[in-house]
Amino acid sequence: MREVKSIDDKTYKMIKLIKSGDYSDVFIVENKKDNHKDNHKDNHKDIKLIGKQAKLIPEDSLKLLKKEYNYLLDINNKKCPHIIQVEGFVSGIDDYNREYGIILEEYAQGDTLIEFIDNLDQKISVETLYNYLNQLIEAIECFHSNHICNMDIKLDNIMFRDTDHKELVIIDFGLSKEYEQKYKENCNDLRNLAIVFKTLGEITDFGYRYKDRNNFILLIEEMFDNPDFDINKLKLNLN
Ligand SMILES: Nc1ncnc2c1ncn2[C@@H]1O[C@H](COP(=O)(O)OP(=O)(O)OP(=O)(O)O)[C@@H](O)[C@H]1O
Ligand SMILES: [Mg+2]
Repeated sequence: MREVKSIDDKTYKMIKLIKSGDYSDVFIVENKKDNHKDNHKDNHKDIKLIGKQAKLIPEDSLKLLKKEYNYLLDINNKKCPHIIQVEGFVSGIDDYNREYGIILEEYAQGDTLIEFIDNLDQKISVETLYNYLNQLIEAIECFHSNHICNMDIKLDNIMFRDTDHKELVIIDFGLSKEYEQKYKENCNDLRNLAIVFKTLGEITDFGYRYKDRNNFILLIEEMFDNPDFDINKLKLNLN
């Protein structure tokens, strides 16, 4: 398959298409240098990187992907938790001699939240739910305090870092923009997070704990409606 070179002279090879999203193709990538010794093409457990390439025409995709990469880099540098880690940005030349870009990033080996919900065979506990929500709140709080709004918080843009369903990571910053605290209503992250909360709330064993459940529903409704909603209020309530 296609090979691309990075600035520090490593050659990356796209070895397998794993997802074709609305806007991008996601490949498992190997660094050819690292993989001379042992060939783990069929052993994805050992492969740590994916490459994300946009589906749009190359000139636009290059610009958009670079923008996404820069947001991710910034958020990684600020050490925000529960965010996918970027490895680098590489570019290549396509068959029509046009430059295109690929974001190299950590391979999240678990499910997206949408896959998780679809494959679930028993409800999750309230403790597990609160744990997931706290992780997402921590992540969002961190990039908001660095003036970045994600603009695309949804179940398929959140994945489990590993197959043990413990740690969540936000993976997609393709629609991100600068965020000013005084224009809170222009950032839809809390509204979108409220929808994620609602869906996750439906897969818990909450049914037995009405008091918690009512409190929870009131909070997410308020969060959905109120752009000035204080996320700390939610944090306190979840602990
Ligand atoms: N770092 C990653 N590790 C593992 N899988 C990933 C990673 N990044 C993306 N994916 C997979 O590829 C899919 C598409 O990725 P992403 O959301 O970043 O692109 P997109 O084109 O914006 O997709 P869409 O518009 O469909 O949300 C994800 O839903 C996920 O299944
Ligand atoms: Mg996406």
